[in-house]
Amino acid sequence: MNQDDLKKLVAKAAIEYVVPDTIIGIGTGSTANHFIDFLADIKGRINGTVASSEASAERLRGHGIPVLDLNQVDEISVYIDGADEADPHLHLTKGGGGALTREKIVAAASKRFVCIADQSKVVDVLGNFPLPVEVIPMARSYVARELVKLGGNPVWREGFVTDNGNVILDVHGLTIVNPPELEARLNNIAGVVTNGLFALRPADVLLLGTEEGVKTITR
Ligand code: 5RP
Repeated sequence: MNQDDLKKLVAKAAIEYVVPDTIIGIGTGSTANHFIDFLADIKGRINGTVASSEASAERLRGHGIPVLDLNQVDEISVYIDGADEADPHLHLTKGGGGALTREKIVAAASKRFVCIADQSKVVDVLGNFPLPVEVIPMARSYVARELVKLGGNPVWREGFVTDNGNVILDVHGLTIVNPPELEARLNNIAGVVTNGLFALRPADVLLLGTEEGVKTITR
């Protein structure tokens, strides 16, 4: 099986985690796209969705799945999304697709977070995948200098603007031994909207697509 087959495998498995008659939080990326496509088959069983990006909202609407504004919703039963890296504590790096801020908001507002990923995303220590940081445009250079002080090598994702009108710095060269501590520290830099570490609110369940089938890892 190739990587995309493994993504499809976990996306299909995640359908089991959909809670009937509730609102479902929807992630962003190619694995989340597969999940959206499977969700279309059972769309009559849910009350609607909250999307973590304009791209996912468009795909959901394309399938005739209702997309609600988070402000209209009291509770999201489960958030289903991919990741760029996952460690054994289910701390994640996300934001490869640039949707990290809305992903973090929807994850925070959800009772349960089910992460879906192919086996290549599992690491012992986060940091090999460059850590995305969403930044208010006027603060880009200042934030980059602060990130260098923390030992990172920030690279501006030139030409990319987030759904929130901001820019992304991808931070290379970090070995993230304490993800919750770094997540909080980065979010304290003036001008940072948020960063792609999901450690203060990690995944609750990781469904992993492997050659041997889907593995379920819980915290
Ligand atoms: C987007 C994300 C994605 O979940 C992450 O990049 C994984 O993407 P894919 O499922 O395409 O491998 O965080 O902002």
